[in-house]
Amino acid sequence: MIKLITKLKKKLRKYKIFKKIVKYREKRHTRKEFLKEYKYFYEYYDMPKLTIQKKEYKMLLNIHALEKGMLNKNMRPFGVEKVNELIKLYKEVNNDSFACSLTIGLLKAYVDVYEKNGWTSKDEYIKAKNFINNYLDKESKNAGTYVLNKKEILKNSEIDYLSFLSSRHSVRSFKDIPLKKEDIEKAIKMAIMSPSACNRQMCKIWHILSKDKVEILKKSLSGLGNFNLDNNIDFFVITFDMNNCLFTSDRHDGRFNAGLIAMNFVNGLHSLGIGSCLLQFGNYLDDEVELKKVIGIPNNERIAIVIGAGYYDEEVKVTYSIRKNINDIYFEK
Ligand SMILES: Cc1cc2nc3c(=O)[nH]c(=O)nc-3n(C[C@H](O)[C@H](O)[C@H](O)COP(=O)(O)O)c2cc1C
Repeated sequence: MIKLITKLKKKLRKYKIFKKIVKYREKRHTRKEFLKEYKYFYEYYDMPKLTIQKKEYKMLLNIHALEKGMLNKNMRPFGVEKVNELIKLYKEVNNDSFACSLTIGLLKAYVDVYEKNGWTSKDEYIKAKNFINNYLDKESKNAGTYVLNKKEILKNSEIDYLSFLSSRHSVRSFKDIPLKKEDIEKAIKMAIMSPSACNRQMCKIWHILSKDKVEILKKSLSGLGNFNLDNNIDFFVITFDMNNCLFTSDRHDGRFNAGLIAMNFVNGLHSLGIGSCLLQFGNYLDDEVELKKVIGIPNNERIAIVIGAGYYDEEVKVTYSIRKNINDIYFEK
């Protein structure tokens, strides 16, 4: 049946009217997809009742704003509203999350700054101090600011970065052995070092281990055409959490941040003798929702990109994929 349809399509392609119909259908489809994307974004952006996850992102946002406030050269009492909101959110969330332990650390730093400046009669100081006294038993992460000297900053930066970057290529055939957990964890550590908008760290890396799930994932990808599928490939799905969308300006942030984490992950893998290839994931939203259900990825996460990886073979055939010239992409105005 499929063969017959393909044959028929081939014949019809000769007719202009058929081409026009195909284009029209594509246009409608694109419009429908964009509308679905908009509705999806809005569902998480404008929640009638905030979820715990969303509250945690709000906490991270406030923490970041307060940390930046501490960079100010001519500091004056600051962040009253943010401290109040942070304390309120903490009480509502009150779990062992990253956001909660960072809140404790941040409020400790805030109290410190106020004490150093002699602002201890301020309401926000008293509130923050009382709060941390009540939560002394809770885990606290480093927050606030600290000073680095140039020597320290440059200590580990003297590497031939261009040579490193130039030695990475997309690899589509790997040694037939699975990746070791210790290597994956090292690469994840490197990926975690990626910057993220307001340090909200909304991206996740899902390593797909189940053979059945890998088969389903492979079927959903359109770019596996020239891969050696006979050998092992470890698949990683990079997602971003829609709960992170707190403003309209966050609407594209997830994908951008996923790009950064994906690149650091791929470079990290390369530094460990692991080749990889980014795999486009541009599936329709309904397909994505279905795939997430099968794999077990929560629906509040969107799939940004997939990565196929494996140890380098002794010899690897890669494409030149030659890059443009500097003056093709760099402009001064
Ligand atoms: C967002 C993105 C999606 C990609 N998707 C695919 C894909 O589906 N299949 C594939 O074989 N390569 C894919 N690639 C790899 C590119 O073809 C490759 O990065 C490019 O040709 C440059 O080559 P290099 O990675 O060897 O430097 C993708 C790369 C990026 C950045």
